[in-house]
Formats: sequence, structure tokens, C-alpha cells
Amino acid sequence: MTMNQTIGSAFNKTTYRLSGHGPRNIGMLMTTFHDMNEDTDSDMYGKGKFIEQFQEKMAEFLGKESAVFFPSGTMAQQIALRIWCDRQGLRKVAYHPLCHLEIHEEDGLKKLHGIEPVLLADRSRLITLDDVKNRGEDISCLLLELPQREIGGQLPDYAELEAISAYCHEQGIKLHLDGARLFEILPYYGKTAAEICSLFDSVYVSFYKGIGGVAGAILTGDSEFTEESKPWKRRHGGDLISLYPYIISSDYYFEQRIGKMEQYYQGARQLAEWFNRCPRTATVPEVPVSNMFHIHFAAPQAQVEQALIDLYEETGIGITSNLRAIDENSCYTEISVGDKYAELSSKQIETVFSLLIRKLSLLGKA
Ligand SMILES: Cc1ncc(COP(=O)(O)O)c(C=O)c1O
Repeated sequence: MTMNQTIGSAFNKTTYRLSGHGPRNIGMLMTTFHDMNEDTDSDMYGKGKFIEQFQEKMAEFLGKESAVFFPSGTMAQQIALRIWCDRQGLRKVAYHPLCHLEIHEEDGLKKLHGIEPVLLADRSRLITLDDVKNRGEDISCLLLELPQREIGGQLPDYAELEAISAYCHEQGIKLHLDGARLFEILPYYGKTAAEICSLFDSVYVSFYKGIGGVAGAILTGDSEFTEESKPWKRRHGGDLISLYPYIISSDYYFEQRIGKMEQYYQGARQLAEWFNRCPRTATVPEVPVSNMFHIHFAAPQAQVEQALIDLYEETGIGITSNLRAIDENSCYTEISVGDKYAELSSKQIETVFSLLIRKLSLLGKA
């Protein structure tokens, strides 16, 4: 058994959790069917009232002409970038070195589409307007991931975002938003989804991050763009005869949780304050700008893991199911605040943090 499985299984046994919406089990999908009429027709290969209504609803929410439902964001985004590259006749896109396409998609963009990435900024910080201006190469498209997940979910100032958008527009560079967590950043920016999306030519959003559905994605833009994405969805094998289980869960949890993003964001800010009071512990960003942040521990992974496992057993409260080593003497984890945090009383939070402070201050002492 690996150490990760050990902390994972200890986490799975906890009743209360600081992060997430609760277990990902089949019940999550079953709940969404309760209010459905069983005579409702399935969508068929991307057509039918069921899928079309959801696409229209999301296009309106995101302030775009049209939207297409995809089984995954991985598929939707590779297709979006392929379309923009084909239009410009240049297979080059710029993005962050730690974006999802670069590190989590087995080089799909390069191997399936022959698109070459131009990496901007470095692994520790966000892309700035200067990075875009000084990229040194022609590109068809710039992809921005908001928030930038692998560096704790950081965000540029809104003015910087507007400046990047205006520059791309002037230069004829298409701007695509990886908005896997777009809903989660609305409270920080104090903007509507449509206002943010208006800065971009195309946008992808996910229904299983803060929304907490089963899986699924929307790709949105003008009608010409979304129409062009449909044959690509078929070529990628994503034009399933029935996508309704994913659409039902996306719509159900969207309705349940879209109004709770402020609550999750405030929860993340409170929690980060608590973590920053613990020894050997710092959050990135120090003050979260969405429902997510990273916690860095200045101690070896195995020691922090053991401290957390003991804490979960003693309190029944879980913090995270995994830790990743940075080097021999430090490690980190990611927290995304969801429904579970609200189940904890302030007394429980005080208890878990006073214990954590005690355990972390004892680390390394024989
Ligand atoms: C920032 C970001 N972009 C894209 C994706 C891809 O989404 P999917 O899992 O639906 O392919 C993810 C998934 O974790 C993500 O975090």
C-alpha cells in the first residue's frame, strides 16, 4: 500500500471534511433523477430538446451566441484550439507551462493536432501582458486558465485581464478561456460570467469542479465557431448517442450550487487564515481568490501524512486525501471548499486546528 492510499483511506473514513462536496459515488447521479420525468426523450447524437435547451441556457449564462455540450473539457479545449489554428493557418498556441493541456493530457494537442505550444511565464507565476507581448513568436491563439490551478488557483487583476484581451484583439490573436473553475472566481472579481466571457473568443466551463456534477463540459463562442466544433466532437468520438446522464447531473448541480460560490469563496478565505496560523504551514495564495488554494508544509511528506492520518482518526474530520512531495523536506496539497465545510461547527474547526497546530509543532522532534 502506498502512503497516498493510506491517507486516502483514512480520509475516506472521516464523517466531516474541510474540503469538497462529499463522496463521489453513484448516489450523486441517482439523486439527480428524482425529479425527472421518465418519459423525457433522450438526446440523440447531439440533437434533441434535452441537450439543446441546456446548451441555450449555458450560452445565455455565459453571454455567448451559442454553446455545445462535451463529455470532457480535454476534448472541448483541444478542439477549440484546433479551430482557431486552422482559421489562422498557423498551428501555434501560447499558454502557461502548468496548464491542463501541457501537463495532464498526454500531449493530445501535439500528437492529435500537431499544434505546437509556446510556453509563457514560468511555473511559479501567472502570465502577464508583457509575457504575451514578448512571446517572440507568432501564435494563432492564447489560452488563459482562470484560476491557474497548479499554482494554487491564482488570478490576474481584472485590469490586466482586460489589457491582455484588448491586446489580443488588436493583434488578431484569438483568446480562449480555460474556465474549468470560472464559476468559482465570480465572487472575487465581482463580475458576471458573461462579463468575464466577453473578454474571450471562446470559453470552456466544467460541471464537475465547484459545481460537483458527474462529468461534462460546455464550449461556447459565436455560432460559426460552435458549429465548427460539432464535426470535431464526432471525430474525437465525443458525439455519444446519449449524453443526458451527464447533462442531467450538470444542470441539477449547477442549479444547486451556482448560488453558493460566494459561500465557498468565503470558506476558503477563513480556512486559509487558520492554516497560516499553523507552524511550518503556508497557503498559496496567502489569501485565496476562489474556493481553492494550496497548502505548503515545510516538513517531509511521510511525517505530515502521519500527522494528518492521526488527526482524522482522532477527530473524524478530514482535510485532504493526498499530499504531494515538493522535495525531501516539503510537500503540498490542494483544498477546494464545497458543501462539506458548512457542516462543521466553529467548535469543531477550533478543535481540529488546535490539534493540527500541536501535531505540526511536534514534527521532527523525537
Ligand atoms: C484547469 C482544467 N482544465 C481542463 C480540465 C479538463 O477537464 P476534463 O476532466 O473534463 O477533461 C481540467 C480537469 O481537471 C482542469 O482542471
